[in-house]
Amino acid sequence: MAYKYVFIASSMLLLLCSSAMAQKAASPPPLILTPTPAPAPAPDYVNLTELLTVAGPFSTFLDYLVSTKVIETLQNQANNTEEGVTIFVPKDSAFASLKQKPSLKNITNDQLKSLLLFHALPHYYSLAEFTNLSQSSPINTMAGGPFTLNFTDVSGTVHIGSGWTNTKVSSSVHSTDPVALYQVDKVLLPEAIFGTDIPPTPAPAPSPDIAPVADAPGDEGTDAKSPSSSTSQGKSASHRVNSLGVLSQMVLAVSGGLALFL
Ligand SMILES: *[C@@H]1O[C@H](CO)[C@@H](O)[C@H](O)[C@H]1NC(C)=O
Ligand SMILES: *[C@@H]1O[C@H](CO)[C@@H](O)[C@H](O)[C@H]1NC(C)=O
Ligand SMILES: *[C@@H]1O[C@H](CO)[C@@H](O)[C@H](O)[C@H]1NC(C)=O
Ligand SMILES: *[C@@H]1O[C@H](CO)[C@@H](O)[C@H](O)[C@H]1NC(C)=O
Ligand SMILES: *[C@@H]1O[C@H](CO)[C@@H](O)[C@H](O)[C@H]1NC(C)=O
Repeated sequence: MAYKYVFIASSMLLLLCSSAMAQKAASPPPLILTPTPAPAPAPDYVNLTELLTVAGPFSTFLDYLVSTKVIETLQNQANNTEEGVTIFVPKDSAFASLKQKPSLKNITNDQLKSLLLFHALPHYYSLAEFTNLSQSSPINTMAGGPFTLNFTDVSGTVHIGSGWTNTKVSSSVHSTDPVALYQVDKVLLPEAIFGTDIPPTPAPAPSPDIAPVADAPGDEGTDAKSPSSSTSQGKSASHRVNSLGVLSQMVLAVSGGLALFL
């Protein structure tokens, strides 16, 4: 009687095993979905003049771009769909608050051009990509040479540092590859024009240093201990696996013998 139950149980076990194996064998090979290349949508031509006219109060920035013809350089970059462009646009109020030193009144036309190009990166960056950019600051702007910007990601907000200016992206006006237009609270003033004699400003809250710290020497003590404990763990784990293997083999042998016997 008892043998019968054992036989039923073990044969059910075998049945389960074999059906599982059959399922495994019968299961079709993983379907490889070759992504049908989506019909490349013609990248919308973005008319920067139009965009800056319609969005925000950006007329001061736009007027400067037009008077210096820098708008053509930026539009040309925006037309380059491979790279695209990222432009930081200060509001009119940001220019209005630049009445005292440093002022844009005394700078030469070439310096003004550089200052405008200082507000643009020769590549399209989504806001998410600035986390990465902050790791590789300083970043070259379209003004080239020493005109670099530093980016830091402070809990999802992009902060921009030029030495003279510490500001942040306050809104995303347009962000579709290849053109990104981000509103900033201040005009970005480069050290390459205004010098490094920066008047002290109320210190901004220190941004957390997120750079990975190299292993401190103090860690050695814990490191020395861990290998021995991990090997003993590994030993007992493999021992457990072995005994499980033996057990299952025994079950199989017994049930096989029973199957022959009955
Ligand atoms: C861009 O928009 C401006 C203002 O609407 C217009 O004057 C100009 O002709 C447009 N440029 C192109 C290339 O379409
Ligand atoms: C940008 O592309 C538009 C549309 O193809 C064209 O009309 C315009 O002249 C181009 N502008 C520049 C500066 O390359
Ligand atoms: C512009 O330059 C003149 C002469 O160099 C100087 O007196 C004046 O203070 C400057 N203005 C500003 C706003 O820097
Ligand atoms: C981050 O930057 C590295 C090196 O500049 C680049 O290889 C990587 O693709 C970037 N990752 C993202 C998510 O942009
Ligand atoms: C930008 O970052 C670099 C490297 O982190 C630093 O040396 C430099 O002083 C920074 N420049 C500005 C203007 O904050």
